[in-house]
Amino acid sequence: MSHTIVIFGASGDLTSRKLIPALFSLYKKKRLPSDLRVVGFARSVFDHDAWRESLRESTVQFTESSFDADAWKEFSQRVFYHPGDIAESADFQKLAEFLVSIEPESGADRVYYLSTMPQLYATAVEQLGASGLAADADGQRRVIIEKPFGTDLITARELNDRVHSVFREDQVYRIDHYLGKETVQNLFAMRFGNSIFEPLWNRNYIDHVQITVAEEVVIGSRASYYDQSGILRDMFQNHILQLLMLTAMEPPPRFDATLIRDEKVKVLHSVRPMTGGDFAAQTVRGRYQGYLKEPGVPRTSQTETFAILKMYVDNWRWKNVPFYLRSGKAMSCRSSQIVIQFKSPPHLLFGSKVRDFDANRLVIQIQPAEGLQLHVQSKVPDTEMKTRTSTLDFRFGGDDTGRMPDGYQRLLIDALNGDPSLFARSDEVELSWGIVDPILAAWRSPAAPQLLDYPPGLWGPEEATEWMREQRREWFDVCPVIT
Ligand code: BG6
Repeated sequence: MSHTIVIFGASGDLTSRKLIPALFSLYKKKRLPSDLRVVGFARSVFDHDAWRESLRESTVQFTESSFDADAWKEFSQRVFYHPGDIAESADFQKLAEFLVSIEPESGADRVYYLSTMPQLYATAVEQLGASGLAADADGQRRVIIEKPFGTDLITARELNDRVHSVFREDQVYRIDHYLGKETVQNLFAMRFGNSIFEPLWNRNYIDHVQITVAEEVVIGSRASYYDQSGILRDMFQNHILQLLMLTAMEPPPRFDATLIRDEKVKVLHSVRPMTGGDFAAQTVRGRYQGYLKEPGVPRTSQTETFAILKMYVDNWRWKNVPFYLRSGKAMSCRSSQIVIQFKSPPHLLFGSKVRDFDANRLVIQIQPAEGLQLHVQSKVPDTEMKTRTSTLDFRFGGDDTGRMPDGYQRLLIDALNGDPSLFARSDEVELSWGIVDPILAAWRSPAAPQLLDYPPGLWGPEEATEWMREQRREWFDVCPVIT
């Protein structure tokens, strides 16, 4: 069976920065089907060679390890370009003819990757349907859809309906690149491959959980997208809720796409809806100083670049354990981590009281480096019985280049192999919007919590620190603990 990936929106950034470098790395590792072809489709005019040359330059820049020119020469012979416009059905007919001309046999296994402007996703899918390109006798046509999947529940439902009018759900792969990250997958291994964590992983031992995705970057030239989106849509509806699901889910009976996603969806069903005063009490919104001066941002913008949501997962395991979800641009450092803050020991033997903040803590660092740090109390040497916090560090090793593979490698290979475990299902996406939408609506109402200013380079607004202290808790505001 021959294999083809068709990338729509192929002249965009994602193709050159992520998709082609990921495919090239997989090619070098001999993980791709031996007869895979990659076809780029976009409006820009290129011939095959000009596109290959431009991809060569970007791949040299963005590939993870040193560039292998001989391997690129071979790989690039599998790369083709077909100019076309998503709005033009005739261009899809021509694409269909082109694919038949390069595929050695009929019924090729094809993955269509939508990396276009999100407004074009539904049209692209419908054109695939109308041109016969989606026709699937044996599950050999799949579609990968980039984020954002809708801008709220209504648009996400509408998009799901339009996608389902052409593809069955099992043919649809909605990307959340966080699920391609090694440490995110390591959460499965850690939680369900060990017996020492599970007995403690619940309301009896855990005081609260902090999930922080801090970024140093500002919005740069992305104002036209970002100002419409804001941090809740950009980071919470997808990446951060994914991290919440993986932290809170029950073990699935088997490592199977349906069973894993069933368990994740149950977490979203269990999230306690906010009502009335909850929006003011359980959310914090902020904006870095200088945001209004970013090119393209309207002076009247009310868009937030920082947010905290305090959420509860109402089930037996997690009842009344707060999950603090936090993300911001222009923060101190780039650091994504899940902090499991355990409760203090019930009875203290050693005179000096262990402050709550010193109780055991497990830091799962997702990036930049990937690993775990466990905080434990130990005796200070040469004292009678004074204790202090010590750390046990563990850094996940890289691949054979010593680095972690980019998440797109894993996601592309899974889509090619027909494994949707690490992709978002339609119900998952709709439930996530169902959680985020009421918060967005509350934030646009007169009762919205104040939009707090913060200077770039800190951990968000000062008030956020105070807000946490009022709850007798502390943020774990530490730049990467594992380097
Ligand atoms: C993207 C957001 O989905 O994720 C960006 O649109 C954000 O705003 C990025 O910067 C963060 O991804 P990563 O992998 O760098 O943490």
